[in-house]
Amino acid sequence: MSEEVRYAATIAGVDWTCVKHDLAADDFDNLRTPDELEASFANSQAVAIAWIGKRVVGTARLLADGVCNAYLIDVWTLSSHRRRGIATAMVGMLLETVPGHHVGLFTEDHEAFYRSLGFGLEREGMSRVVGRWLGRFEPRGEPMPRPERPSPASPQMRGPLP
Ligand SMILES: CC(C)(COP(=O)(O)OP(=O)(O)OC[C@H]1O[C@@H](n2cnc3c(N)ncnc32)[C@H](O)[C@@H]1OP(=O)(O)O)[C@@H](O)C(=O)NCCC(=O)NCCS
Repeated sequence: MSEEVRYAATIAGVDWTCVKHDLAADDFDNLRTPDELEASFANSQAVAIAWIGKRVVGTARLLADGVCNAYLIDVWTLSSHRRRGIATAMVGMLLETVPGHHVGLFTEDHEAFYRSLGFGLEREGMSRVVGRWLGRFEPRGEPMPRPERPSPASPQMRGPLP
């Protein structure tokens, strides 16, 4: 496999089943099906896909209102290709599309990476899942169906969920 990395601002040609497999192997699978992954990216204002040959080695996407607020998500580099600047390049592509915006994100383990891109910690963040995650999972990723029980009022999402 040639090691030259190519960056695309579209999802054309992405094999989402393969991406899902690689995300799972990297323990970064948040339970979306390949079709749901594709829809997430297709419905985003901006996407960045890193390719080496015919293989996707990185993804990132941005939700944005075109005025002032944006949200960065699904930033991932294939584990065998990390620390080569791939995520930096993808996030850079996305940020170029939203001048003047406040860009938010959540991270548990990669503060150093985002700091290297100029992001700073906010004092507090809050979030919730509306109903069940992806419409079918309990907040911790337990599959349905389950015995009826009340949903937690404010589920604590951990790891790659969502
Ligand atoms: C976080 C992640 C996307 C970084 O991807 P990457 O392509 O390796 O990042 P880069 O090579 O562009 O890193 C740029 C800089 O960020 C910092 N950085 C990146 N990963 C780091 C790590 N694990 N520990 C400390 N610093 C890190 C370094 O300063 C690095 O520069 P350097 O390599 O010259 O020291 C990648 O580790 C990943 O996919 N992790 C799993 C998925 C994930 O958790 N994504 C974030 C969700 S919020």
